[in-house]
Amino acid sequence: MGASDGTLLPAPAVSGRSRVFGVIGFPVAHSLSPAMHNAAFAALDYPGVYVPFPVEPGRLSEAVAGIRALGLGGVNVTVPHKEAVMAFLDEVTPMARRVGAVNTVIHREGRLIGDNTDGRGFLRSLAEELGVEPRGLRALILGAGGAARAIAAALLEAGAAGLVIANRTEERARGLVRDLLAGGAGPGAAPDPGGQQGEPPDPPDVRAMALDDPRLEGEVAEADLLIHTTTWGMDPHGDVPPLIPARWLSPRTAVCDIVYAPLETSLLREARARGCPVLPGLGMLLYQGALAFEAWTGRKAPVEAMRRALERCLDAR
Ligand code: ATR
Repeated sequence: MGASDGTLLPAPAVSGRSRVFGVIGFPVAHSLSPAMHNAAFAALDYPGVYVPFPVEPGRLSEAVAGIRALGLGGVNVTVPHKEAVMAFLDEVTPMARRVGAVNTVIHREGRLIGDNTDGRGFLRSLAEELGVEPRGLRALILGAGGAARAIAAALLEAGAAGLVIANRTEERARGLVRDLLAGGAGPGAAPDPGGQQGEPPDPPDVRAMALDDPRLEGEVAEADLLIHTTTWGMDPHGDVPPLIPARWLSPRTAVCDIVYAPLETSLLREARARGCPVLPGLGMLLYQGALAFEAWTGRKAPVEAMRRALERCLDAR
């Protein structure tokens, strides 16, 4: 989907003063970011235009040189360049370094700064849409891929008290836990504005587990927050049962899915039926974009216009 099939990109008013932004990836035709960011520019009457840049593997350094040479305001970075791009930037934020991936490049005063807004985007959607703040909570993440890594780092930065990473391949969950602990991705590691002066918080309890571990049922029942981050249940695989039985969930557990196609997964449907507060995946997509938009423009992101643009694109699929 994209401009080529005529879907829903508002025609931006391009002028000699336009600031150009975009997304680099391969492929990028499926990206929802152009629709979301162009809708944001239009809503604020901001002189920006956001375009997809298909960048073949092997041409990444040239593409980054192009950001400088062409004076782009910034770009998003997607598969397969999120890790490799770090080598070509002037600066990488502590969050992006901890996650090991950049999803947003900001071009500021001639310097290219790489950040990762995925995890904080997830937290902002959790706060805005469910009113949940992670400080002191126990979270359980299903999956140990890139999205899990970003969310885990942000949860620990925000002061979560406990984190279980449950993954089909247990070794991958263990690797993620090792990295999180080694990277010091806890409340003590980063500036912690909410922390008490002089009294360091208890270190968070971070553990790995296999999805088929019999103790998982107890961990699910105890969790304040459950976040599904795997590709299981993502279109086009159809309506599959959740990775864990919904009967394990306590109705007080907030249940989040980062899958946004379908908009409501079987996990969210069944969790909602049990009375759990639920957070669909569109929120993370929206707020990671809102944070990038704010970093590029210094303006508060018009999230409702951005949300409508995403919903229109997904409806049209
Ligand atoms: P992303 O960057 O989007 O998180 P990823 O790095 O490819 O994607 O990670 C995919 C995640 O989905 C992994 O946790 C993967 O589990 P494994 O590490 O065991 O591969 C998980 N996943 C994919 N298909 C799955 C399935 N059928 N059942 C359970 N987990 C699955």
